[in-house]
Amino acid sequence: MIPVCRIEDLPEGESVRVEAGEIGGPIAVFHSEGAFYAIDDTCSHQDASLSEGWLEGCYVECPLHAALFDLRSGEPTCLPARKPVRTHAVTVVDGMLYVHPTVHTVPGEPVRAVQEEAVA
Ligand code: FES
Repeated sequence: MIPVCRIEDLPEGESVRVEAGEIGGPIAVFHSEGAFYAIDDTCSHQDASLSEGWLEGCYVECPLHAALFDLRSGEPTCLPARKPVRTHAVTVVDGMLYVHPTVHTVPGEPVRAVQEEAVA
C-alpha cells in the first residue's frame, strides 16, 4: 500500500504520479467525477507519462500521441496504443489516499479501481 496524498491535495480534474518500484514503474492517480483512479503511469505505446495527459471524464489522453485510456479498465479506446495499462486499487482511509499496486492481472479481466470512502 503506497500513500499518495490527502484527498484535499488532489482536487477534481488533477493527477499525481507516485513511484512504485516494486511493480516496475510509477503509477498515475487521477481524481475525476468524484472518484479516484489509479493506472500505470507509463503509456503502453511508448515512454510517456499518463499523469501528464489530459483528463476527460473517466478517460486520460496520452500527452505524446493522444491514445485515450479508460481509467476504469486501463484499456485503450483508440490507436496508437493497442495494449492496456494495469489498473490499481485506490482506497481512502481517514482522508488519506492510498494505492494498492497490482502485480499481476488476468488477461481479459482487468482489475478495477475501487473507492471505499466517498469524496465530500
Ligand atoms: S506514447 Fe502514448 S500514445 Fe504514444
